[in-house]
Order: sequence, then C-alpha cells, then structure tokens
Amino acid sequence: MPGWLRDTVFYEVYPSSFRDSNGDGIGDINGIIEKLDYIKSLGCGALWINPVFDSPFRDGGYDVRDYKKVAERFGTNEDLVNLFNEAHSRGMKILLDLVPGHTSDEHPWFKASCRQEKNEYSGRYVWTSHAFEGIPGHPYISGTTDREGAYMLNFFAFQPALNYGWLNRTEKWMSAPDSEEAVSTREALKDIMRFWLDQGCDGFRVDMADSLVKNDDDRKSATAAVWREIREMMDRDYPEAALVSEWSNPVQALNGAGFHMDFYLDHLHNGYNTLLRDYEAGGEDNSFFRKKGKGDITRFLDDYMPKYRASRGQGYISMFTCNHDTYRPARTLSEKELKLAYAFILTMPGVPFIYYGDEIGMKYRDLPTKEGGYHRTGTRTPMQWDHSEHMGFSDNPEAEPYLPLPDEENAVTVEDQLNQPHSLLNTVKELIVLRHRYKYLQADALFEPVNPGKEKMPFVYRRGSLILAVNPSGKRQRVENSVFEDRTIIYKIGKAAIDGSDLIIDAQSFMICK
Ligand code: NOJ
Repeated sequence: MPGWLRDTVFYEVYPSSFRDSNGDGIGDINGIIEKLDYIKSLGCGALWINPVFDSPFRDGGYDVRDYKKVAERFGTNEDLVNLFNEAHSRGMKILLDLVPGHTSDEHPWFKASCRQEKNEYSGRYVWTSHAFEGIPGHPYISGTTDREGAYMLNFFAFQPALNYGWLNRTEKWMSAPDSEEAVSTREALKDIMRFWLDQGCDGFRVDMADSLVKNDDDRKSATAAVWREIREMMDRDYPEAALVSEWSNPVQALNGAGFHMDFYLDHLHNGYNTLLRDYEAGGEDNSFFRKKGKGDITRFLDDYMPKYRASRGQGYISMFTCNHDTYRPARTLSEKELKLAYAFILTMPGVPFIYYGDEIGMKYRDLPTKEGGYHRTGTRTPMQWDHSEHMGFSDNPEAEPYLPLPDEENAVTVEDQLNQPHSLLNTVKELIVLRHRYKYLQADALFEPVNPGKEKMPFVYRRGSLILAVNPSGKRQRVENSVFEDRTIIYKIGKAAIDGSDLIIDAQSFMICK
C-alpha cells in the first residue's frame, strides 16, 4: 500500500475545461502545469486527470485510439512527462485515467480485428463466429465489417469490448480467461501501464474496472484475478504507484481485486446518493445536507457501514464531491449546505476527491451535449478562475471556449473567493489543513457513528479520539452525550458550544472537538 495515500486529498481535473494555455479554446496539459500551485494551495497532494490520450472524443476521451500518445488538443507526450516532473518537484502525484475494458472503434487493434483474414488482433476483442449470431444479454454490433461475426460493445456503440475471456462459457467462440488471446490482452494492458509508469506517472484511475472478464461470477472472481496479477506487478515494480477503481463495490475491488482505493459512486438511492443528490421524480432534493432534507443519516450508514467494516484494512473507500459523470452538488445545494457536505466528506476515512470547481461551488448548467457528455456536459464546463475574458480559462478573446462560460456577473470565481475569508474555497482549505494536522481525520483512523438515528440531529461521529457533529437542519439543536464532557472545540462552521455533557449546535453548523 503506497503510504502517501494515508494523508492525501485528490483533485480531479477534466482537462478540456481546466485551463487553456495556448489560446485554442480547449484546456491542455501546460494549463494544468500553470495551475499546480493553485491545486497545491488547496492542500491537494495529487491529481486524477480524465483521459488525455489520442481519441476521436466521442465519449470525452474514454474512446481511446492510441494509449501511448497524448491527444494533440492537450499537447505532447513530452508535455505530459513535464507535468509529472513539475508535480513531483512540488511533492505532488499524477494519476492518469486507464480505460482497460474497451477502445475506440478507430483503434488500430480494432481495425485489424475487423479483417476477415486471421491476424495478431483477431482475438483482441469479443467476436462471435457469425454475422447472424448475436450475444444474448449483451450489446453487440454486426453487419458493419468484412469479418464474419458480431462484436460486443462495452459502453457506447463505438466502444468495442476488449477480450479478457469469459468465466462461464456457453459458446465455442467465448475465450477462456487463460486463453492465448485473453492473456495477450492482459499483457497489452500491462504494457500500457508500464509505458506511463516508467515515465513518472504515479498510478491510474481505472475506468469500469469490473467490466473485464465476461459472464464472471457474483464475486467477480475472474476479473479480480486479472487485477491481482496487475497488483503483483505494481507491488514488485512500482510500489509507490496507486490504483483507484471505478467499481463501487469495495469488498470486490479492495479485498478481491487488490485496488488501493475504490470510488463510492453516485448510484440512485445508494448511501452516497442520499447525502447530496437525493432527487425525487419532481426534481425536489431531499438529501441529507439540504436544510429542508429529511435529515436521515441512517440511509447513508446502512449502505456504507457494512462496506466500510468489511473492507477496512484492505484499502480505501474514496468519496468525492462529484465527478465528470455526476451532477455537481451545487445543482441543488446552497453554499452553506455545500460547506457542511464537504466538511463531512473531508473528515471521513479513506481518500477523498474534490472535483475541479466544486471548491468554489460551480453550478451545474443545462447545456446541449458535447462529445458524448449528454446530461454530464453541464458538469464539465470551463473552470471559473476570475472575471477576465473567458473567466481566466483562456487568454485568447477570439477563442471559443470548450463549453460556454456562465453569463451572470456574479458567477463564482476562484479570485473572488480567495479574498473572502469565509468563502467556500477558504472553508475547503481550512478543512484540508485540519485533515493534514490530525491523523485521526486521515484515511486510516476509525470512523464510528455515535448517535445514528432517523431524525436525530445533529449527527455525531467519532474519528479516532476526535468527536465531530454536523447539523444540516434549520434548527438549533442541543444533544446530551457523555462523549462531549471535558472537550474543547477545535473547529467549527457556524456556531457550536459545549456545556458539560451537552453540545449546542446552531442550524446548519459543524464542529470538531478534541
Ligand atoms: C465511466 C467514465 O467515467 C465515463 O465518463 C465513460 O463514459 C464510461 N466509463 C465509458 O468509458
């Protein structure tokens, strides 16, 4: 386990939208380098950057055409290596995005596999034996290639599934996970990882990490075996590099597959979803951190606690403010509500991630789809740095920004919030400072709910020897508990005081005591 994860807060960058350094309207790698000091000033020690590889960009770069070449819009391979070096010189780390389950249909491997004559890549993707033979229960395409067969899709129509084999095989064209072709896909994946790790990359966020071996069992044991093999390579050759999975099943991803971290994704009605995005059919948000929410932390805890207990010591659950696939929390949460939500996320165990722009409460905007974003497009808009042209995203007034910036004069910016002592941005910074200061707020220290209950406010929890309380409700609350005796408040948002064994905490407030 790379030790640096214990005390790291990550920052996710959607590269097209972060900072355009060459005036073409699209963010780029040199733009990220320009802003490393800003990211460091937040207290974030590592970045996850969405795919930066050559791609037709029909799914925001998750349709890779060349895993070993940086897309022209972002710069060159040299720029990327330069980014690794610039980050390292500041004590920071860079995770790239690895897409192991599929490629673009423009990838040369796929083009070769579409040929009828047998070649090196005939087995690199999942193909049936006949154009008229589909793959029941799975998406596939047939009739578009010279090759006699149908190929399987892993996501959108232009993302054919790479072949890691099938655990339960019912057809003769289904490869075994230890077949020559599946092993060669696995080796190709390792080769890509080594290519970037050898040049200074510090690890990967792994896209759809659970999607490799098809017809896998309930435990995903065959897919986990692929990752275990990769973890062995990492432990042996790159022991400081880290892997975080898009899986959202920590028992499978951490205990089984050996990932260091696993994202707790926003899935409808799961525990995480009830905290920030509990949208009802009519659009009303009843999430825990809304002042008007139903205030029921048990909906989070019932889902989270079993996962946390079962995976503790095996790896880390990663909670994020948002990611590039999810509505920004400021879609429904006010600045005050965001402060409390972030206070919670940044004081939980595991390794937290902040999505660029969430630290200033950038809004979700309804925008027409761009590059396969669909509803996700509104979460991928350019970073709002200041009030200059294009809000500091691009210095070229003639350039058309990757996505439109907001028109409102009072749109949030980094520049404004740096100057306001109680801004969301400064609150995020304070919280991260605390996390670095107290090991009990970091990844490993025990998390324990103190007073879980349906409508109990505030929610009180323990991290190591610290006691924390959050009251998202609109009412001042008084709660009696011996855990408060003889304690001093070391940090608060809003108002809170301890009186003997009582905590008095104002509406929409948060506190930590020792
Ligand atoms: C998950 C990624 O986060 C998402 O953006 C992408 O569209 C799909 N995987 C397909 O790769």
